[in-house]
Amino acid sequence: MQLPLKNAAFQTDVLPDRREASQPPERALGRVIACDGSRATILSAVSTGNWLAGDAWTIGRMVSINLGSSRIVALVYKLHAVEPAWSESEENPIQVEVEFLGEVLESADGRMRFQSGISTFPPIGAIAHRIRSGDLALVHDLGDRSGVEIGHVTQDASIPATVSVQDMLSRHFALVGTTGVGKSSAVALLLRRAVSVRPRLRVLILDPHNEYSSAFPDLALTIDGDSLDLPFWMFRQEELAEVVFRGRAVLDDEPDILREVVAAARARYRMPGNGQELARDLGSSLLKRPLDLGVSRQPADATQAGTVDASTPYRLKDAFAVIDEMIGLHELRWPRHALRSLKVRLESLHADPRYRFMFGRANMYETVAPILAQVFRIPMHGRPITAFQLGGLPGEVVNAVASVLSRLAFDLASASQGAYEILVLCEEAHRYVPSDTALGFAPTRQALARIAKEGRKYGAYLGIVTQRPGELDPTILSQCSTVFAMRLANERDQQIIRSAISDASASTINFLSSIGNREAIAFGEGVATTMRMRFAELKPHELPAMGARGGDVAGRLEPTLDDMVRRMRA
Ligand SMILES: Nc1ncnc2c1ncn2[C@@H]1O[C@H](COP(=O)(O)OP(=O)(O)OP(=O)(O)O)[C@@H](O)[C@H]1O
Ligand SMILES: [Mg+2]
Repeated sequence: MQLPLKNAAFQTDVLPDRREASQPPERALGRVIACDGSRATILSAVSTGNWLAGDAWTIGRMVSINLGSSRIVALVYKLHAVEPAWSESEENPIQVEVEFLGEVLESADGRMRFQSGISTFPPIGAIAHRIRSGDLALVHDLGDRSGVEIGHVTQDASIPATVSVQDMLSRHFALVGTTGVGKSSAVALLLRRAVSVRPRLRVLILDPHNEYSSAFPDLALTIDGDSLDLPFWMFRQEELAEVVFRGRAVLDDEPDILREVVAAARARYRMPGNGQELARDLGSSLLKRPLDLGVSRQPADATQAGTVDASTPYRLKDAFAVIDEMIGLHELRWPRHALRSLKVRLESLHADPRYRFMFGRANMYETVAPILAQVFRIPMHGRPITAFQLGGLPGEVVNAVASVLSRLAFDLASASQGAYEILVLCEEAHRYVPSDTALGFAPTRQALARIAKEGRKYGAYLGIVTQRPGELDPTILSQCSTVFAMRLANERDQQIIRSAISDASASTINFLSSIGNREAIAFGEGVATTMRMRFAELKPHELPAMGARGGDVAGRLEPTLDDMVRRMRA
């Protein structure tokens, strides 16, 4: 084999002209010796003197293959010495395996630009070398799209990593990575950047660890179990059933009874004088009224009815009265013990201080408007983000609350006819939309899937964060057109991301198990090209921190014993 090759042998008249003053005088050079449709092998040499050079061949670096008027950009994914031996005095030949990413070419207006994919394959013998900074910047340039800076490219800290907020949001995004790699911090950074360039954007963070209020002392309103009002009457049938029946075996009839009771109570609320006095005046003739209202059995798919219903209030005491009337009926429609147990269950929820957010002040509200104003920041008052602390809520209501909120987000965005853009940021998304369809809560899954599938048209967007992409519903992940993949240790999780990445840079994904904290491989619509990047460093007061309370910048106040007991009960 003809072996290389003193670097001097490659000094063509092209290269020195294009060399920038800042670049090292010696450039690692090689020649293409093999090529297939997407990859090439480069033969080069390393000597004892230059193995540590700044431009040495290393995995994960981009290199450039010179075609005269254009340059192919390729990524090093494998390296090995031609001989399994090392000579101290001679240059040691090595083979560098690269994958093509795209091409830097001159466009019609005379400017150089990068395009994904290649139009000309490199001939055998083409010269390869470390990519120029200018080309690297072109590779990561968003072109005509406006972008925000979120960090820098790993290969060259002088090149900003930019993302198009428009494309990232409107086609949804996901952020995945194993625990502690910096996902939540990256979310805080992305949201900061997003709201700074999208004044109409509102963000609702479903925050299971109560960590985001500390990240946005200036930009977010925190809603926790104490400040939250989500009246029970805003819950759709399935959502309410989830709250009412969770944690104990459900008798077959119970959801149907609940549906009928709620429909009757709602009908009473809508009656003139709200039904109360009327019922007393008319005496027992009205007792059968709930059953005569044509609401006795709604279709199993009550989606439509639920949407309409859930926007009008009803009273719990009407519901209790309806149950009592049902118990007293001569011809029983439902078993008495089932009716009684439903009443007991509703009464105990009503009395439980942990459920005050649903039952405590529910009938102070006549419409959903004040609730929407609180949750979705209308008016915004300079704080476009809502950190919704799910961590303090009883475990069995978290799913139902997430469902109500995501549903409202979609409905509000669509009703605003483009005036509001709403991003629902879902931490620990695998809990709500697990890959196993038997798990999770169907209405939450539906509400999030609806945003993912149709939200774009209405200005409702989804941001998904998970440590376990393998446990996340693949259809939701596939709707996320921009993905930030941080370190993933698990082979299955890596496989999921590998299959999600469609362009030629599949080799990049091989690094997923070894990239550092704060680093990510970003790919998809929101970025110019698949890029390995490092998120910018956040200041301490911009970092998410668990246990922080809203507005508490230091975020580390010792909680009171009462607080801790309350949290433990939750
Ligand atoms: N961009 C950043 N700037 C400054 N510090 C960071 C950044 N990213 C991560 N860190 C540091 O790393 C720690 C862990 O980050 P973070 O909580 O974001 O990880 P995570 O992936 O969300 O973890 P978990 O899986 O437990 O939720 C942070 O507390 C912070 O100290
Ligand atoms: Mg986190």
